[in-house]
Amino acid sequence: MPEIVLKNITKKWGGFTAVENLNLTIEDGAFITLLGPSGCGKTTTLRMIAGLETPTTGEILIDGKTVFSSDKGINISAAKRDVGFLFQNYALWPHMTVYQNIAFGLETLKWKKPDIEKRVAQMLETMQIKQFAQRYPAELSGGQQQRVAIARTLAPKPKVLFMDEPLSNLDAKLRGEMRTELKRLHIDTGSTFVYVTHDQLEAMTMATKICLMKDGVLQQYDAPLDVYALPANRFVADFVGNPTMNFISGKIKLTGEKTAELEALGHSFVFHANEEIKMQNGDVTIGVRPESLPISKKGDISGTTYSTLPAGMETTVRIKVADTILSSVMFGSLDYKVDSEIHFSITGDRILLFSQEGNRAASGSVEKKGE
Ligand SMILES: Nc1ncnc2c1ncn2[C@@H]1O[C@H](COP(=O)(O)OP(=O)(O)OP(=O)(O)O)[C@@H](O)[C@H]1O
Ligand SMILES: [Mg+2]
Repeated sequence: MPEIVLKNITKKWGGFTAVENLNLTIEDGAFITLLGPSGCGKTTTLRMIAGLETPTTGEILIDGKTVFSSDKGINISAAKRDVGFLFQNYALWPHMTVYQNIAFGLETLKWKKPDIEKRVAQMLETMQIKQFAQRYPAELSGGQQQRVAIARTLAPKPKVLFMDEPLSNLDAKLRGEMRTELKRLHIDTGSTFVYVTHDQLEAMTMATKICLMKDGVLQQYDAPLDVYALPANRFVADFVGNPTMNFISGKIKLTGEKTAELEALGHSFVFHANEEIKMQNGDVTIGVRPESLPISKKGDISGTTYSTLPAGMETTVRIKVADTILSSVMFGSLDYKVDSEIHFSITGDRILLFSQEGNRAASGSVEKKGE
């Protein structure tokens, strides 16, 4: 099973750099998501690994074999890289039925007829498209066509599967179901999945590792929960998580390698870091996830409710403190009157400090100083 290694990969179009000096190791059997805002270089990266786009410089290895090297003049064609594709703009064969669309690739690979029948039946079942087996693509909705495209790509059990936003045409409910199916398929097939999305929730829930990019530059490459808890910088912190992280402006005064005093929201706090604090005295941004701001009568910070958004299972409460609006997420249905006084606290040991440049300087816990 293959490992994919990218070394110093850069892609330029004229003077424009779409991907800059990307270094990445995709472990065998991983489920990687390339995540980032529109235009950050996700599709370009995927296409370069697949062999559909030529990098300007760098080297790509699949399974220990160099498939691209600008120095050595190597560029192995996509067809010879033993990979499967599923792109945003998939095209089904219009003159073939759903069944034939899925079976076709297996026939080309000279699978035996009973094996083909068994595999196609399995894919029709998994993708919930059994009832459409004899229909033609033009007789299906966009979402149904997309499911056929997924079935067709997965049928031959490719070792590496590249997917570029394959769920974008599906409605929210089906997209949720397909996420579960893809995650399951990943485990069942043992293939390496490389998946492009700009949807952070999709990336969080499915991937073994997230590769988060901005303007062609890698920001962080880590397991989803590490990206969530310990984002490398403010951009990452802001991009992952919904509601987004609270960023509170304040001042910092270091009192030791791992301790500092913070002034924020009109209060003084003591910060206990989990590791050495990598910043100087001065301006600081304190990053707090909405679940680390529980509202309770015992809370030691007061504010007023700006709005309450109950969603059934959880409730997002926006709290106004001085001229800052913070988001708090509470489990269950709550409904506070607008502009009423409430109390909350800053809890947990995953409170983050960001330097003026926006890099994470520390994680730790805060404690309000007695008045
Ligand atoms: N053939 C091309 N010629 C010139 N520029 C290109 C070309 N293809 C892509 N680009 C540019 O490279 C950048 C990265 O494009 P890419 O398609 O990789 O973005 P993306 O992250 O997949 O975005 P999206 O989420 O919108 O699909 C964009 O700014 C895009 O305009
Ligand atoms: Mg794209």
